[in-house]
Amino acid sequence: MLEARESVRNLATYRPPLAGREGLRLDFNENTVGCSPRVLARLREITAQEIARYPEREPIEAVVADHFDIRPTELLLTNGVDEAIHLLCETFLQPGDEALIVVPTFAMYEISAAATGARVISVPADADFQFPTSDLLSRVTSHTRLIAVANPNNPTGSVAESASLLEIASCAPQAAILVDEAYFEFYGRTLMGQWRNVPNLFVARTFSKAYGLAGLRIGALTGNAEHIRLASRVSSPYNVNGVALACLPTALDDQDYIRRYVGQVRQGRAELQQEFGQWGIHYWPSEANFVLASFGPLKTALIQSLRARGILVRDRSGDYGCEGCVRITLGSTEQNARLLRALRETLAEIGAKEVTAK
Ligand SMILES: Cc1ncc(COP(=O)(O)O)c(C=O)c1O
Repeated sequence: MLEARESVRNLATYRPPLAGREGLRLDFNENTVGCSPRVLARLREITAQEIARYPEREPIEAVVADHFDIRPTELLLTNGVDEAIHLLCETFLQPGDEALIVVPTFAMYEISAAATGARVISVPADADFQFPTSDLLSRVTSHTRLIAVANPNNPTGSVAESASLLEIASCAPQAAILVDEAYFEFYGRTLMGQWRNVPNLFVARTFSKAYGLAGLRIGALTGNAEHIRLASRVSSPYNVNGVALACLPTALDDQDYIRRYVGQVRQGRAELQQEFGQWGIHYWPSEANFVLASFGPLKTALIQSLRARGILVRDRSGDYGCEGCVRITLGSTEQNARLLRALRETLAEIGAKEVTAK
C-alpha cells in the first residue's frame, strides 16, 4: 500500500477560511484596494506568445535585486514566501534536526519544517507577545538547523529588534535564520544584506501584501549567494509564473502607489489602536497592516456583527495564547473609516463599554 512519509502522515491539514469572502475583506492581511492600476494595464497587454513561453526568472531577478540593493546571486524569486519557507526547509532540514519557531506565528514555518521530519520546537513569546530573545537563545542546540521569525510577526504585529535577530544568528551558525519580512513596507526596518556579516541569515519578502499581488504568487528569498544557489537547486526553474514575472517590474516601478497605500494603512492602524484604547480593549501595538485585539467572550458576537455589516475579520483564537483574539487588517482611508463606524456600532450592540469619554 502506498504510504506518505511518516512526517507527512502526521501533519495537520492547514485550511485557511477562504470560502464565502464577500464584503470588505479585512481577514487575510491582503492589500484591500488591489494592485497598482499600472500593473493591471501591464496584465492586459500580455500576449498569447508571452503565456505560451516557459517563464524566465533571471532577468526579473536582476530587477528585483537592484530594487533591494543586493546582487542578483543573493536572490531567488519564489512562488510567494510560502515557497521560500518550503525551499529553505527542503535545503537545510533533515529528520532529527530541530527547527525553532516563536509562537504565536505564521503557520507555514511549522508545516514546512515538520514535513521534512525535523522536530519543531515552539518557543512561546514573552509577556504581551514580546520577542523572547533569551528563551530562544537558551533553546539553541547543536541540532538546531532552522530558526524562523516573522518580523513584524503575524498575528501579533509585534517586532524583534534587529540586534536580537543578529545575535541569535551569530549564536547559531549551524542554523538557517529566516527573517520573514512579509510586512516590511508597513514597518520600514530590514535586515536585508546583513548576511554579509552573518552568513547564515536569510530575509524573505513578499509582493502579496503592500503590492497587492497575492493572487499572482510572487515573493523572494534573499541571502548569502552560496546558500541561495543551494536553495535554488531544490526549486523548479519555472516556480514563478510568467504573468507574475511580467508584472513585477511595473509593480516595483510604481512606488508612489505603495507609499500612498502604506500611508493610509499606517494612519488607519493608529486610529484603530486609539479606538481600542478608548473602549478598554486589549490590543497589541502593531507594525504591520493589521492589529490583533482581545475581545474575550465577546469575540464570536463581534465577528458575526461585523460580518452582518459586510466586514470580514479573522478569528485567531486557535493560535497559541490568542484565546478570544481577533485580527483586523487595515486598508484605504475610506475602508478604515467604514471599519471604525461599524466597530463602534458593533461594540455598542454586543455590550462593550467605552472606558473614556471621547
Ligand atoms: C509572516 C507571513 N509570511 C508569509 C506569508 C505568505 O506570503 P506569500 O503570499 O508571499 O506566500 C504571510 C501571509 O499571511 C505571512 O503572514
